[in-house]
Amino acid sequence: MKIVVAGTGYVGLVTGVCLAKVGHNVVCIDINEEKIYKMKNGISPIYEPGLEEIMVEMHEKGNLNFTTDYKNSYKNADVIFIGVGTPEKADGSANLEYIYKVVDQIIESAEKSCLVVIKSTVPIGTNKEIELYINEKIAEKGIKIEVASNPEFLAQGTAVNDTLHAKRIVVGVESEDAKNILREIYEPFNIPIVITNRESAEMIKYASNDFLALKISFMNEIANLCEIIGANIEDVAKGMSYDDRIGKKFLKAGVGYGGSCFPKDTKALHWLAENNGHELKTIKATIEVNENQKYKLLKKSRRKFKSFKNLNVAFLGLTFKPGTDDLREAPSIPNMRVLLDEGANIKAYDPVGVENFKKIFKGEKNLKYVQTPEEALEDADVAFVFTEWKQITGVELKKYKELMKKAIIFDGRNCYKLEEAISANVEYHSIGRNTIFME
Ligand code: UDX
Repeated sequence: MKIVVAGTGYVGLVTGVCLAKVGHNVVCIDINEEKIYKMKNGISPIYEPGLEEIMVEMHEKGNLNFTTDYKNSYKNADVIFIGVGTPEKADGSANLEYIYKVVDQIIESAEKSCLVVIKSTVPIGTNKEIELYINEKIAEKGIKIEVASNPEFLAQGTAVNDTLHAKRIVVGVESEDAKNILREIYEPFNIPIVITNRESAEMIKYASNDFLALKISFMNEIANLCEIIGANIEDVAKGMSYDDRIGKKFLKAGVGYGGSCFPKDTKALHWLAENNGHELKTIKATIEVNENQKYKLLKKSRRKFKSFKNLNVAFLGLTFKPGTDDLREAPSIPNMRVLLDEGANIKAYDPVGVENFKKIFKGEKNLKYVQTPEEALEDADVAFVFTEWKQITGVELKKYKELMKKAIIFDGRNCYKLEEAISANVEYHSIGRNTIFME
């Protein structure tokens, strides 16, 4: 079976590499020549643990190739996976421009019937719409292209494992043929396959992501209340987690969710519902809570510092979570903006996010990047923790005490135990827990 994957971002490349890993013959396509050049030379264009090694291994084995030549690749493809981005538009709806670009290239190039599989997250109804669009345009070619939905559930930082050992594979199809092709492709993974119609498959993706986002916003709201009434969110989460119906995961309070999925998928589903005359009250609240939560640390710190002007700030963590170099919707970005606009002197540390961050904050003379968290802490008046990288959580609070002018810490990811803050004698503000003051 000749499999082609369009897009070599987090979804496309991981899909291509993992399909090759289980023995399929895969060609990955991207319009970006530089990315293709990199991949041919053994460099993954994205930072994703374990990905580059398998990519190189499969390329050398001959299972995996890379090209910008979409014409020849789509010409005789049996199955074309689409894994390009669907970013959000200004109104919150999903932007399908990149999907349609690929679709138009398929229309232009396909010379035989094939199955198009949409992995990108798309609004409910899109698969059907695309199938109609394609077949209208290729009517005179005498071929038929069917479209199937196969949403992706991988998380960044664990993408390879999440794909090779997924909990389930969701497939939305309208024919036996499409069902059988996808069954054959996924058989070597040995993972349960949920087969539905296309609309349900599309909805499963949004409902799953939005439910997880809701869980986080719920915990953040409870955490905010815990601060007022003197409860401890970590203990509360632990106590809740023993109930199987609640589960242990996604109960961590913090400075809100970021990334390429939750922010955009909550807004897209909310928009879609509104567009259909229906209000999703829980999703609306999820989005609102997250918007506020992003600024939680700065709000807290304003009680302490009247202004950030000339304040030496240790800014620890830039990416939206550890294990990725992705900065999309990272809470660090709007907070950095505020601090810089108010004239703070910032030393920022992140183990992998700096290069991407530099593209967003160009020419800021008050923003310096340092190689270690300790360097950022030296002579700082205040430290903000935005990402729980091991390199950051591994620095003991007594080090903050040693290095900072005055150890005042605002931890947005609850990286430290309150007992540690007490014994290090630092001022420690976290999320959903009592503040520890110096003696
Ligand atoms: C998410 C989903 O997990 C994945 O299934 C989907 O396909 C894409 O979106 P990802 O965005 O890579 O994956 O990261 P995830 O680990 O889910 O974290 C998302 C955000 O939520 C991060 O900013 C993280 O810090 C935050 N988060 C997560 C919390 O604040 N608390 C938690 O308990 C869990």
